[in-house]
Amino acid sequence: MQIIAHRGASGEFPENTLLAFEHALAQSADAIELDVFAVAGELIVIHDHHLARTTNGTGSIYQYSLAQLQQLDAGQGQRIPTLWQVLKLIQGKCWLNIELKGPDTAAPLLALLNKAEQQLGFDCQQLLISSFNHHLLAAIKLKRPDLKLGALTASLPLDYAAFATMLQAYSVHCDVSFINQAMVDDAKARGLKVFVYTVDEPDDIKRLTGYGVDGIFCNFPARSRGVLNKKPAI
Ligand code: G3P
Ligand code: MG
Repeated sequence: MQIIAHRGASGEFPENTLLAFEHALAQSADAIELDVFAVAGELIVIHDHHLARTTNGTGSIYQYSLAQLQQLDAGQGQRIPTLWQVLKLIQGKCWLNIELKGPDTAAPLLALLNKAEQQLGFDCQQLLISSFNHHLLAAIKLKRPDLKLGALTASLPLDYAAFATMLQAYSVHCDVSFINQAMVDDAKARGLKVFVYTVDEPDDIKRLTGYGVDGIFCNFPARSRGVLNKKPAI
């Protein structure tokens, strides 16, 4: 069972910040999940397009320039990171799930990954690109068939994981509130990995272990590892 730090070690540190990602690495998370929006073509790491919940700003990210957004406090003096900063931080240390939130994120992501491959030697096989917006995923697959896609759902579809097969996805990402054994069995029969969000309660972790899921998105990676009694990979 893979432990994916949801927005970093966000149960203990400000979500989607370099601090939360550093602590996810220190807690030996197998992977980190983060959320991105595009502002003037630059990908920034933040979950909501409104600023008030996670920063000392107000209004929408789209009302500000990148420079203005980077003045804000995202908690404990942290700044809203760019995706570029995060790629540099985690490169080679764990795999990364980039969840596309903003509607205009596909083209900037593809451009940034090209730059990361050329300038950092970044291995894009360490990435999993996910979104609730399946149109974005289809657009990415057309341009970069080699990239792994994670098909997100917050429901239990009538035809289970069929949408993920349509997307040629690597994995299906399910809500802990709706996933059941039938969904897992259907996904596995399709050759898909199954990752579940957001899982912090020991009873959920044990239930999902029984279903045979491949990984869980956790706000407290070290604690979840303790429940699983799982040793770090390295
Ligand atoms: O990617 C899994 C999970 O992060 C999806 O929901 O709202 O936490 O981004 P959310
Ligand atoms: Mg997310």
